Amino acid sequence: MCGIVGYVGDEQAAPILLDGLRRLEYRGYDSAGVAVHEEGGIEIVRAVGKLRNLETALSERGLRGTVGIGHTRWATHGRPSEVNAHPHIAGPVAVVHNGIIENHLELRAELEAGGFTIASDTDTEIVSHLIHREIIAGHDMVTSIRRALDQVDGAYAIAVVSENEPRKVVVAKSSSPLVLGVSRGATYCASDIPALLPYTNEMVFLEDGEVAVLEPDGFAISTLEGTPVSRRPRKISWSPVMAEKAGFKHFMLKEIFEQPRALEDTLRGRLDREGADVVTAEVGLSEDDAKAIRRVILLACGTSHHATIAGRYWLEEFAQVPTITELASEFRGRDAVVGEGDLVVAVSQSGETIDTLMAAKEAKARGAKILAIANVNGSAIPRMADASFYTHAGPEIGVASTKCFMAQLANLLMLSIWLARRRGTMSEGEAGELIEGLARIPHLIDENLKATHETISEMVGEFSSARDVLFLGRGLSYPMALEGALKLKEISYVHAEGYAAGEMKHGPIALLDSEVPVIVLAPQDRHYERVCSNLQEARAREAKIIGVTSAGDAQTQALCDAYVEVAPTHEALSPFVTVVPLQLYAYCVADYKGTDVDQPRNLAKTVTVE
Ligand code: G6P
Repeated sequence: MCGIVGYVGDEQAAPILLDGLRRLEYRGYDSAGVAVHEEGGIEIVRAVGKLRNLETALSERGLRGTVGIGHTRWATHGRPSEVNAHPHIAGPVAVVHNGIIENHLELRAELEAGGFTIASDTDTEIVSHLIHREIIAGHDMVTSIRRALDQVDGAYAIAVVSENEPRKVVVAKSSSPLVLGVSRGATYCASDIPALLPYTNEMVFLEDGEVAVLEPDGFAISTLEGTPVSRRPRKISWSPVMAEKAGFKHFMLKEIFEQPRALEDTLRGRLDREGADVVTAEVGLSEDDAKAIRRVILLACGTSHHATIAGRYWLEEFAQVPTITELASEFRGRDAVVGEGDLVVAVSQSGETIDTLMAAKEAKARGAKILAIANVNGSAIPRMADASFYTHAGPEIGVASTKCFMAQLANLLMLSIWLARRRGTMSEGEAGELIEGLARIPHLIDENLKATHETISEMVGEFSSARDVLFLGRGLSYPMALEGALKLKEISYVHAEGYAAGEMKHGPIALLDSEVPVIVLAPQDRHYERVCSNLQEARAREAKIIGVTSAGDAQTQALCDAYVEVAPTHEALSPFVTVVPLQLYAYCVADYKGTDVDQPRNLAKTVTVE
C-alpha cells in the first residue's frame, strides 16, 4: 500500500526521501513523488511506474532544500498517473496520504461549489484543499490540519509541508501506520520502520487521533483536539543490514534462506527443554485463565491465515480447546458470535493489516480477550491487544511472506503447547518430545535448504509453462498446500489452487489432465496412506505428479514425475519442513519466468485499506 516518508533537517532532503521510498517499495506501488521546500516555494516531482522514473525526473529537476515529503502510491481512487500521484498541492501546502477518505465525494462537491479546482481523481487531493481552505480562513498550519481532518471520515496517515512554515513537516494519523524517527539535528517520518533504519533506530509510533510537528531538533505530539502528548522514542533492535539483500538475487530468496535463523530467534528463551514446557508470560493469561478459555478464535488475512489453520489443528489436538479460524475481512460486520471466554488471537506479520485490526477491535468491544501475534514491535494490532506474543523474524521485505509465516507457525505451536500444559491435556513426555523436535527444526531446515533449492531450480523448467497447478495435502499439510498455491499465484501469476486432498474428488479432479502438475504433500504422518491414494487418483488422470516426500520414501517417489525430499520430523512438526520446498518452487518458477519477485504486480506488503 502507499508509503510515506518525510524529512526535516540540514541535509539535502530529496536523496533521503528517495532512499526512504526505495526502502518502502516492498509495500507495493504504481507511482511516486516528492515535495521539497526550495527557496522560492514548494516544488513537486512525480512519476508513474518504478522509482527509477522518479529518480530520473529528480536528477533532471535537481530539487534543492532540506525539508520535504515523499510518497509511493498504490492506486485506490483514480488510475496510476502523474496527476494522481502524490504529493498533492493546494495553495501553500503539499500533502501525501496513505489510506482512504470515505466521504471524499461529498467533500469534493462542497469544495468545488466553493470555487476550489481539483485536478486529480484522488481522495487525497481533497485533504490538501481542506487544509488550504482553513489556511485561507487565517489558521496556522497545525490548526488548519486539525480542522481539515475533523471533516474527514476514513483511514489516513498524512504528511504535510507548507510554504508558510518552511522548517516543519506535520503528520497525523488515524488507522494507517506512521512512525517517527529522531536523530541529532534531523527528524523523520515513514509508514514503516525499514525506511528509517539507515538514519536512526530511535523511533516513536504515532497513535490514532494524533498530530505531530516535526522540526530539525525534535517533535511535538498532540491529539487532534489539541491536548499535548508526551512520548519518548524507543530503540528498535533491527539493523539496516537486516533490510538489505546480502548478495541474494531477491529479498524473497534471502528470506527463505533466513528461515532457520528467524525460527531460532523466535524460539529463543521460550522452550524449557528440561521442564517440557513453553516459557512465556507474553500470552498475558494466568494459569486459571488458560483453563477457563471457552474457545479460541484465530483472526488473520493472507499467508497469516494459512498459519492459523495449522494453529487450529494444534490447539484442538493438544489443548483440546474448540478453535475456529476466521478471515478477518469476513469476520467483520457480520455479527459473529464472540464475547467473554473467547481468546481471540490476531495473527499479522505487519501488525497493521486493517481488516485484522478492525476485526480484533470489534471482538474486543464485545468482551473477548485479544492476543496479538505480530512481527513488528509496537505496531497497531499489538498496541490494541491485551497481550502480545511477538515473532522475531526480523524485517520481512519480500511481498510474499516466507520467514514470518515460519515464525507464526512457531508461535502458534508454542501457544498450543503452553495452553495444553496448563489445561492438563498434554503429558510431560508428549510435550518433551515435541519441544525437542521443535528445537531441532532450524537445523533440519538449514541442512536441506541448499540442496532443495538446487533440486527445484532444475525441475521448474519442465513445469513452468503450466497454466494451472493443484496443491494437495491432508491434516497439517492442507494449510501448507493452501500456502504453496498462494505463493505461486502471488509471484509467478500462475493459477494455482490448494485443496484438501480428500476433497479433490469433489471438484478439482475434473480439471486434471497431462497439462496440470499436481504437487502432493506426502510426509509420513497419519494421513500418508490416504494421501498416496489421492496421488494415485491424480496420476490415473495423467496429471504430472510432483511429490513432497519424506527423505528415502522410495515407494512414493516411484509414483512421481519429480519429487523433493524433506527431513522426517515428529508428525506435528511437518509444516515447518514441507512449506520450504513450496516457497522455493514458487520462487524458482517466478525467477524462471522473470517476474518481479519482490514486488509482484497489484500486491502490497501491508494492506491498510479494507
Ligand atoms: C498482504 C501481504 C501478504 C500477507 C497479508 C497479511 O496480502 O502481501 O504477504 O500475508 O497481507 O498481512 P499481515 O501483515 O497481516 O500478516
